[in-house]
Amino acid sequence: MKSDKNIFTKRSSWTFDKDIPKKFDKHINKSVPLYKEVQWLCNEVSDFYLKKDSIVYDIGCSTGIVLNQLAVRHKEKPKIKYYGIDIIKGMISYAKKYNNHKQIKFQNKNVLKMKFDKSDFIISMYTIQFIEPKHRQALINKIFRSLNWGGAFFFVEKVRSYDARTQDQITSMYESFKLKNGFAASEVFGKKNSLKGVLEPFSTKGNVDMLKRSGFKDISTISKFMCFECFLAIK
Ligand SMILES: C[S@@+](CC[C@H](N)C(=O)[O-])C[C@H]1O[C@@H](n2cnc3c(N)ncnc32)[C@H](O)[C@@H]1O
Repeated sequence: MKSDKNIFTKRSSWTFDKDIPKKFDKHINKSVPLYKEVQWLCNEVSDFYLKKDSIVYDIGCSTGIVLNQLAVRHKEKPKIKYYGIDIIKGMISYAKKYNNHKQIKFQNKNVLKMKFDKSDFIISMYTIQFIEPKHRQALINKIFRSLNWGGAFFFVEKVRSYDARTQDQITSMYESFKLKNGFAASEVFGKKNSLKGVLEPFSTKGNVDMLKRSGFKDISTISKFMCFECFLAIK
């Protein structure tokens, strides 16, 4: 099956490996509404949290664009350390080649197995939805523990709706969005089929409850469009 002009996939087997890294930025821009605007939002929000010696993590950094944007934006703070984490080796190689500012360290790691240092800003955009649900709470707990008091978690996910009717309607609108952006109907179906059991969105409430259980009390939605939501959780 096809999931984009030159991306071929199989049922329940979507992967970011193989030749995806070099096609990734174009594909995600076409697939996710307001993708660039949410990156812009992350840049804007970072101004409130990045101090002169902060540590910043991007979990599931893919090609590393956001960390590169932050490193350029905060160039007057040369002691900030940025860590981009991704489980796919090809993503990290691509990030190192195209978005490797001197303050950024890209690391090929499984976030579930790594230890975090104390940090002021942790980003996870469209990544935790790919982590098996049974591991998510432990990861969010680890993120909470890593943050310094007053630090923030910038958390963007695909989310399910609070009821069946709006879930159906939003799914239909999201499919229209993809067709409008140039995907063929067969590609929309191909991607959906490949994501079965691989991308598992929680509802807004499911995500907020998980954040609360880890210890976050100050949780706000700072952007939501159809089935994509950005939470800002402050420690
Ligand atoms: C949809 S992409 C997110 C891309 C990026 N954050 C962005 O906004 O463009 C999800 C990324 O998370 C990575 N990922 C998935 N599970 C991971 C894990 N357990 N540890 C580290 N990275 C992971 C994938 O390899 C992929 O690059």
